[in-house]
Amino acid sequence: MINGAAGGAGTFAIQLAKLAGAEVTGVERTGKLDFMRSLGADHVIDYNREDFTKSGTRYNLILDVIAHRSVFAYARALSPNGSYFFVGGSVATMLQIVLRGPWIRRTGAKKLRMLVVQPNLNDMVLMAELYESGTVVPVIDRRYPLSEVPEAIRYLGEGRARGKVVITLDNDMNRSGT
Ligand SMILES: NC(=O)c1ccc[n+]([C@@H]2O[C@H](COP(=O)([O-])OP(=O)(O)OC[C@H]3O[C@@H](n4cnc5c(N)ncnc54)[C@H](OP(=O)(O)O)[C@@H]3O)[C@@H](O)[C@H]2O)c1
Repeated sequence: MINGAAGGAGTFAIQLAKLAGAEVTGVERTGKLDFMRSLGADHVIDYNREDFTKSGTRYNLILDVIAHRSVFAYARALSPNGSYFFVGGSVATMLQIVLRGPWIRRTGAKKLRMLVVQPNLNDMVLMAELYESGTVVPVIDRRYPLSEVPEAIRYLGEGRARGKVVITLDNDMNRSGT
């Protein structure tokens, strides 16, 4: 399960999870459900219609790029041996993961923690190979020249972006494309 799966981090997460053989559920707003399916998501949830932590479905692994619920809500959505990883979200949730995550780990087999990735050469080489072979595709919604950074941030803030919004140093580059 990937919460916030149509954004900059989530579009990679869907593709890499499918590559690893996972059955993937993506959570996003209504207008992005087909987009998640097009990247390989097997199931999609509209966060405006359903709270995945209350549906009764239990997930083996949750990757959360937009965490804002209580740590107990996330623990409820995990299978008995499941793991929850916080990638981004509210400071309140982050603090709960850091302070209460270890306690939840001690009282059962569920794991809730922050995802901290140390960039390394092996991973970079692997990702480059996946891009070159077309196995993983970086999804770029729009490109903006450096002079239009405020507009790019405004666009991102409107919540319509799918994948990455990129700042280029070349004013002549086309604005849109994947
Ligand atoms: N640890 C790391 O290595 C790492 C790497 C990359 C990013 N991050 C962090 O991860 C976070 C996300 O980065 P990003 O680049 O993926 O951001 P992003 O492109 O803004 O993606 C976030 C996605 O979540 C959606 N969303 C908003 N509210 C939601 C909700 N309640 N439920 C489900 N989805 C919701 C947004 O769509 P709408 O706005 O349309 O609803 C958007 O598509 C940031 O905090 C960033 O710092 C961490």
